[in-house]
Amino acid sequence: MLHLGCGQDSRFWRVDSGEVDWYDLDLTPVIELRRRFYPEPERYHLIASSVTDLDWMAMVTANGRPALVVAEGVLMYLSEAGGGAPAGGDPGAATRAGLESGLPVTAGAAWAAG
Ligand SMILES: C[S@@+](CC[C@H](N)C(=O)[O-])C[C@H]1O[C@@H](n2cnc3c(N)ncnc32)[C@H](O)[C@@H]1O
Repeated sequence: MLHLGCGQDSRFWRVDSGEVDWYDLDLTPVIELRRRFYPEPERYHLIASSVTDLDWMAMVTANGRPALVVAEGVLMYLSEAGGGAPAGGDPGAATRAGLESGLPVTAGAAWAAG
């Protein structure tokens, strides 16, 4: 399972089958924030990278098994010109602000509010 632009999504912790290798990829500040909240068991991998910096491809393997790639709510931040810079500034800012406020909001709610 490869989740591009994972944000603070907690899907691994909700639907993990106990068998998959799971990769969550996002920009470095977002991954650093994740590391404050989520442990990293053996089959779970965090990748701090822009989706447009293709070096991350060397960090993932399906080990010959079927792969599912999810790019949910991220493609609109990528430009055809390249670079992958978010169109509207720092895309993780709203999520971080929501979590650091101590308010009982989900990452999705914090994002929507931003
Ligand atoms: C709207 S959030 C969606 C998060 C998650 N997929 C979800 O559905 O809850 C968009 C995410 O895309 C990430 N993102 C934006 N541009 C990116 C890029 N070039 N490379 C990797 N992640 C990127 C942002 O940091 C942010 O976490």
